[in-house]
Amino acid sequence: RRTADTDVYTLALRPAQVEILPGTTTAALTYGGTFVGPTIKARTGRKVQVTYVNALDKPANVHLHGGHVPPESDGYPMDLIAVGASRTFDYPNRQAGSTLWYHDHTHHMEAEHVYRGMHGFYLVEGPQERRLGLPRGRHDVPIMLRDAHFDATGGLILDVEHPEARSTLLANGRPLPYFPVDAAGYRLRLLNSSIHRIFRLDLGGVEMVQIASDGGLLPEPVPRTTLTLAPAERAEIVVDFGRHAIGSKLVLSDAKGPVMRFDVTRRVPDTSRVPSTLRTLPPLPASPTTRRMKLGVAPSKTAYAINDLTWDADRVDARITEGTSEIWEIYNADTVDSEFGGIDHTFHLHLVQFRVLDRDGGPPLPGESGFKDTVLVRPGERMRIQATFTGWPGRYVYHCHMQEHNVAGMMAQLEIV
Ligand code: C2O
Ligand code: CU
Ligand code: CU
Repeated sequence: RRTADTDVYTLALRPAQVEILPGTTTAALTYGGTFVGPTIKARTGRKVQVTYVNALDKPANVHLHGGHVPPESDGYPMDLIAVGASRTFDYPNRQAGSTLWYHDHTHHMEAEHVYRGMHGFYLVEGPQERRLGLPRGRHDVPIMLRDAHFDATGGLILDVEHPEARSTLLANGRPLPYFPVDAAGYRLRLLNSSIHRIFRLDLGGVEMVQIASDGGLLPEPVPRTTLTLAPAERAEIVVDFGRHAIGSKLVLSDAKGPVMRFDVTRRVPDTSRVPSTLRTLPPLPASPTTRRMKLGVAPSKTAYAINDLTWDADRVDARITEGTSEIWEIYNADTVDSEFGGIDHTFHLHLVQFRVLDRDGGPPLPGESGFKDTVLVRPGERMRIQATFTGWPGRYVYHCHMQEHNVAGMMAQLEIV
């Protein structure tokens, strides 16, 4: 439903029997009954209002990952929708065009809920985007990548002790789909919704031109042949299938095996292009406050922590004046020579998008020159990010997006005052 300035939706949180492996069905937790929830399309400056109805047999919620959203619509981990109840969330979309996603954020249950299917795309189209001439319409395709573990009958299994058993790779909820494409440029919006796996992607040496990251368009396109995507990160790439003969098959692969295949089927007129300048970024504000965030195994050695503290809903870890800009230095203390060996972590901040200033004193990685909301922090790595905390007073979390770490304590909160 549409009103003058708002798009209005209703979406049920509900259990469903879904087909993931062909010919079998399995129990899933879903938004709207499908294993990848419906894609919500929004535009910068036009509001979206979603009424979520909880038809599950347990409390749950919804977080708009990457969204610039008031606290009561953010899906704070302790702010749950009761069984049988409904809640209306407001998404102002006062932010740049970007590929966002929504997922469950129920305290202690987020890994399980997301793994079982509570994830979907939320796309914001920016005001200038159409003018750039990027591939659009049928040639603009969101692709959710993740892993999964199935039993012999096709049932979805979550074994937290054995993430390596999640050996089936899914693209939009299907194992190794074949996707027929026109011989034309495509904008592929890649998201890693896995709760732990880092994807290391390639297209068999074929060029993937990265045009956007978590927070929208990069300043300039970045041509690349490999792409690392940590949990919750997004990368938009343009692939020109027009350079390939009809009948060509291009395989998108992870280091662990193929993920999906693009079959070039027919020639069509194509006027899309990738301009050499995509966006002008605002200058970085001066930022007096620096905070340090140490990611690592907790002192108890049985949990994960930020600055040696595990999640406590009653503790505010960072009090920030609305509108101010801060530099956060993030350090992954789980180095390769530490007691538990090297552990990869990610860092995700709610409410705002940030810029990556540097990594170990060197420049950010290719594809990190725009806005980000989630970054991979390698064992022993030290990086700096800068964020400007515009928004609404209230509490928001930041955490590792390896959701098993997040569930085990690696989450803290800021309060905008
Ligand atoms: Cu993608 Cu706090 O979440
Ligand atoms: Cu988030
Ligand atoms: Cu972690």
